[in-house]
Amino acid sequence: MSVSTAIKQRVTKLREEINHHNYLYYVQDAPEIPDSEYDRLLRELQQLEQQHPELIVPESPTQRVGATPLSEFAEVRHRVPMLSLNNAFEAQEVEDFDRRARDRLAVKEIVYTAEPKLDGLAISLLYEDGVLVRGATRGDGATGEDVTQNVRTIDSIPLKLVGRNFPRVLEVRGEVIMTKSGFEKLNQTQRDKDEKTFANPRNAAAGSLRQLDSRITAARPLSFYAYAVGVAEDGELAKTQFQLLAQLRQWGLRTNPEIKRVKGVRGCLDYYHAIAEKRNRLDYDIDGVVYKVDELAQQAQLGFVSRAPRWAVAHKFAAQEEMTKLVAIEVQVGRTGALTPVARLEPVFVGGVTVTNATLHNQDEIERKDIRIGDTVIVRRAGDVIPEVVSAVVSRRPKGTKKFVMPDKCPVCGSEVIRLENEAVARCTGGLFCAAQRKQAIKHFAARRAMDIEGLGDKLVEQLVDQDMIHDVADLYKLSVAELAEMERMGEKSAQNIVDALEKSKATTLPRFLFALGIRQVGETTARTLAQHFGNLDAIMHASEAGLEAVQDVGPVVAESIAHFFHEPHNRKVIQKLRHAGVHWPDIEVSPAQELPLAGKTFVITGTLESMSRDEAKEKLEQLGGKVSGSVSKKTDYVIVGESPGSKAAKAEALGVAMLDEQAFLKLLGHS
Ligand code: IVH
Repeated sequence: MSVSTAIKQRVTKLREEINHHNYLYYVQDAPEIPDSEYDRLLRELQQLEQQHPELIVPESPTQRVGATPLSEFAEVRHRVPMLSLNNAFEAQEVEDFDRRARDRLAVKEIVYTAEPKLDGLAISLLYEDGVLVRGATRGDGATGEDVTQNVRTIDSIPLKLVGRNFPRVLEVRGEVIMTKSGFEKLNQTQRDKDEKTFANPRNAAAGSLRQLDSRITAARPLSFYAYAVGVAEDGELAKTQFQLLAQLRQWGLRTNPEIKRVKGVRGCLDYYHAIAEKRNRLDYDIDGVVYKVDELAQQAQLGFVSRAPRWAVAHKFAAQEEMTKLVAIEVQVGRTGALTPVARLEPVFVGGVTVTNATLHNQDEIERKDIRIGDTVIVRRAGDVIPEVVSAVVSRRPKGTKKFVMPDKCPVCGSEVIRLENEAVARCTGGLFCAAQRKQAIKHFAARRAMDIEGLGDKLVEQLVDQDMIHDVADLYKLSVAELAEMERMGEKSAQNIVDALEKSKATTLPRFLFALGIRQVGETTARTLAQHFGNLDAIMHASEAGLEAVQDVGPVVAESIAHFFHEPHNRKVIQKLRHAGVHWPDIEVSPAQELPLAGKTFVITGTLESMSRDEAKEKLEQLGGKVSGSVSKKTDYVIVGESPGSKAAKAEALGVAMLDEQAFLKLLGHS
């Protein structure tokens, strides 16, 4: 039976498109479409070729791993090809994989090593007599690029192995990644320098590693995890993947702390769910997990099929990036008057939910990324983070797209919009005259961590402002049950509940009240420090900027903002009205900082903590008078080391700074 022209044309078209995206991804480090879309194209081609094997040609993208390397780096031929992994998306596919492997091995159950699938780029490191002599990218799997000078700059890659019983020739493989925190910092620096930002940590890692000038690489926060051995000569290797990783660690190579040995398909799937749950707390991106048959002898028995091993499979998470159409750009006005451009999207399922709106951050970002109304865009939703538009797919740009212009009048109140020099955001100058800002200010005031007014939801606040029933937060305390009961979707009972909640909220604390006022630059932590420093509201209201700057962590910008707020007659009047309405709090006995148990001590936190986020840890330490710094120096008193610590732990070790593991840290908090 001959294949129809339509199918032949589709196959040709798919190959061209995949080749183009391969080139963008591998050679240019500038992919235009998300991996999920690429996978779909490849899967479609694979399916068509499976149905019509006579169409398969050696140069089809299904028949090789990647694209040709750039000419600027020397070529490296891999003695053992660097292969790829087959993907599984559903549990069923993992079960099929396991069943096939069991059948071939004729065993009842297989032990696997389960590993996170790190979202970086594969690298080969060659050690001769324990000395790093070459680093190479994977390239197309057969030939990669010599990036020795660059890998030498990565802290987590040892230039010399430790111990002595390693093979004379050892080729280690692993993943070069950029941490999420390192990525955020890098992009901030790029923005400050008015240079191009990276779309995600993977692109940033790839772009950093493939720099012809290794000094640039050295300035980038790259790290490395080893996960395999390519070549080993004159030396004994362990008998299982799990032990092999332990051996690599002994030789000084970093392996991922989440790696576990599991039994059977049940163990694999449990691992998958545990890692999926933990994913957002890890400081690096992963796009799934990898199951590898643990026994190396069994691996050898299973072997390879075309480009991937039969003894391993990548179990991928739902994509966090998808493509959709940007229908319109609207402008939202925040509590502080900041105007945020928001993308209205054709609904798209990404990161496990349907997304219709995504932030575009600010005008500069839109211009830098050249995103236009009508574009096809890539939307990213990672964990509980607000979805964002990452980039436009320029190759799919239709005719008639429109550039976005920030309005010069506030879309809510019509006041003038200004943008201060050195500030990325445009702001409405309407202040509390602007209904949008008033609504946000009131919602913030009522929030759980502020005045904690239960039942006063966003919808109700909006109605109250729209119907001119409240002008400022103090007006809330004048609302009657009868008035509230009139509102949409309210009854006598819920109205009564809100009045009760308002009554209850009157007894508050000074830190909460300060935070609730919504002073710019004053978050919960600063509110607490201010309260502890001054003890009562009048002292804060009358403090000079210099007096405010004497407070720990209050700099000139924050001090100015606080002083400005209390100088404003309108704000003073609202505070007076609130006190009049009966809002009250106990004053705080001022405890001089040196009396706090950790006063004068400086801490640095590195790695991931099990029991709390880094922010929470910082807050706890500060409450006890400690100072938390971002970098280790001789002045550091303690480094708190969580899981997968960064180079800070090594630096602390080198400087002889005391280190606390999580247990010791919790103990310190408890005892202080
Ligand atoms: S093992 C023959 N283990 O995934 C098996 N790969 O799709 C070779 N990757 O090129 C790879 N984490 O860049 C392996 N724990 C892990 C991995 C991992 C990420 C990447 C690697 C590789 C690609 C294969």
